[in-house]
Amino acid sequence: MLQGKNVVLGVTGGIAAYKACEIISGLKKIGANIDVIMTKSATEFITPYTFQSLTGNSVIVNMFESPKYWDMEHISLAQKSDILLIAPATANIIGKVAAGIADDMLSTTIMASNKPVVFAPAMNTKMYENPVVQKNMETLMARGYHIIPPKGGMLACGDEGQGKLQEVSIILDELQNIYRQELQTEKNDLEGLRFLVTAGPTREIIDPVRFLSNHSTGKMGYEIAKAIVKRGGAVKLISGPSSLQAPQGIEVVSVETAEEMFEAVKEAYPQCDVLIKSAAVSDYRPKIREAQKVKKESQEGEIQLTLVRNPDILLEMGKIKEPGKIHVGFAAETENIIEQGKDKIQRKNLDFIVANDVTEEGAGFAHDTNIVYFIDKNGDWDKTEKVEKSAVAHDILDKVLSKKKSQTL
Ligand code: C5P
Repeated sequence: MLQGKNVVLGVTGGIAAYKACEIISGLKKIGANIDVIMTKSATEFITPYTFQSLTGNSVIVNMFESPKYWDMEHISLAQKSDILLIAPATANIIGKVAAGIADDMLSTTIMASNKPVVFAPAMNTKMYENPVVQKNMETLMARGYHIIPPKGGMLACGDEGQGKLQEVSIILDELQNIYRQELQTEKNDLEGLRFLVTAGPTREIIDPVRFLSNHSTGKMGYEIAKAIVKRGGAVKLISGPSSLQAPQGIEVVSVETAEEMFEAVKEAYPQCDVLIKSAAVSDYRPKIREAQKVKKESQEGEIQLTLVRNPDILLEMGKIKEPGKIHVGFAAETENIIEQGKDKIQRKNLDFIVANDVTEEGAGFAHDTNIVYFIDKNGDWDKTEKVEKSAVAHDILDKVLSKKKSQTL
């Protein structure tokens, strides 16, 4: 995938800087051309000559050294590159990019680039867990930058926890995955298609301070919405409560309960071509929504909470499905995935369903990865490997697109 492509490798000042050598040999094996940009502090850990010998290219540290080309160097590298990888990425470079600071060659090149930029952070656990760093990473992701999270283990400083640079083989695989996805997005192949996507959990109110809900974070739906925008489609995202930040270009309608989500879906449905229901909607809600907080003092011992069924939004929309529209459902299962998936396709009048076994390691709620089964209305199915939710999002959109194309044949 990266054979013959130009990778700019940014190396920042952490103890893991030496691992950049292993990354370079991996990239060379793939057949990529590598240009290294180091921050000044990275040169305290490893010398530019090491990278120069490994890559066969000159290494850039200082923005104001005499240029090797006529063009401005940071602009020319940014333009020449197909992808940028910052590994190891310190809290400092993450913070600088999140804040829009460009005060050295690396941060300036990142700023001047419109190519995919991937950060592989490595730092002390406490630094990594610091809310400021976490917030900066969220900001980067919301702006379309990619993060390959560090792994856990014993750190150089003796602390135990997350913060070690991810395995080089995983970094290389991820880099190639991200590049593949970005190639798809360049096609603008969803131009002209309007998507309605639901995401997140719903909250079913018991009283002014309590509710029933589930573990959904909204990640899958938000990734789908992001992927649609990248590929030139239009999207309206109807989201239950979620801490995720929707990227620019996405119209978000925030709802709380299943009934509110149903109303929002009905209202937006006429303006969509594709309905993707990735929300984890509560099937039941309390029969009575108490106006005041239920006090334990007012009742001794057990209390009863009576639940009533919520509308099954997808089922209801399936009944009034308009010709030519595509409906995609999700299913979180713990057993008999294929059979249950096929049954849901029939009952809810779907084109296909994306099902996962939430008991599988690395799948389902709150994970960055997922393992899914695509089950088609004709009964065919296939299963993905454990992949990033963003990759699942693109696979879903590929499938929608092929359904759309077969409609017009
Ligand atoms: O039947 P089950 O809840 O497993 O179906 C899951 C699919 O149905 C998801 O796509 C979910 O968004 C949708 N659903 C819905 N309304 C409900 C329950 C589920 O739209 N009340």
